[in-house]
Amino acid sequence: MSLAGKNVVFVGGLGFIGYEACKQIMTRDLASFFVFDILDKPEAVQALQEINPKTKVYYTKFDITSKDSIKSAIEDVVSKVQYIDVLINGAGILADPNVELTFNINLIGPINTTFAALPHMDKNQKGRGGVIVNIASVLGLEPCPPAAVYCASKFGVMGFSRSLGHPYYFEHTGVAVVTFCPGLTDTPLKNNIGSKYTFDYSKEIGEKLNSSKTQKPEVCGAHLAQVAELQDNGGIYISNQGTLTKVTPSVYWEPTY
Ligand SMILES: NC(=O)c1ccc[n+]([C@@H]2O[C@H](COP(=O)([O-])OP(=O)(O)OC[C@H]3O[C@@H](n4cnc5c(N)ncnc54)[C@H](O)[C@@H]3O)[C@@H](O)[C@H]2O)c1
Repeated sequence: MSLAGKNVVFVGGLGFIGYEACKQIMTRDLASFFVFDILDKPEAVQALQEINPKTKVYYTKFDITSKDSIKSAIEDVVSKVQYIDVLINGAGILADPNVELTFNINLIGPINTTFAALPHMDKNQKGRGGVIVNIASVLGLEPCPPAAVYCASKFGVMGFSRSLGHPYYFEHTGVAVVTFCPGLTDTPLKNNIGSKYTFDYSKEIGEKLNSSKTQKPEVCGAHLAQVAELQDNGGIYISNQGTLTKVTPSVYWEPTY
């Protein structure tokens, strides 16, 4: 699906990966672009607008842990442009000692945002179809001993996103649901990592992970924009070390009818 003429909402669009993706997305001649973030960076928003004056850029200060913030931000989009065509759920933190905050930002927030936006995307409700891209992680696919809580939250994103990506839902809604999994990427998410591990004694295995090879956020952001355009319902994509790869998940169990 071309993003041209679409109304796009990007949650966490002022983060490192998010902002690089936003810059790419702004080259696609959207109708409108809504950037939601708890960060307030007017110059960054202005710089996005300057990439393409034909696309109207809106910034909304947004706290994904607050249902009121989600509701009013989505209502604002709908009051301005009626439809949401693309939703990208990209907010995230790494802060294992704070279990509730990790789950509220990484998992519960994206679920609530999806539920608030979906009626305005669903072709059988008030929308015209589209795509939702959920940013999980390679740590939504594989365990991560030094960041067990983060990892659990991203496994949650994976379960939610893959469940919504079932063809049954797509036939009803016309909304493709896609999961995007960055590998280790050079962003501040991993700064002060020592205070972000699961246990104090996770430090040794954590440092090993933290010193492993990363990719640049520019590459990851470009992959994210590409994945949003594919509209590949149920698709899971890894962006790792500069390469974008589609994942074929293993099936360990299926219901018996
Ligand atoms: N950097 C990596 O190695 C890596 C790897 C895999 C997945 N990811 C995921 O990619 C996404 C982007 O991460 P990043 O590395 O660019 O980090 P980042 O910290 O630069 O971006 C995270 C964004 O989430 C926003 N955010 C945090 N709390 C929020 C809240 N309460 N409400 C609204 N927005 C909030 C931040 O303001 C920021 O814009 C995250 O979901 C992260 O988990 C990152």
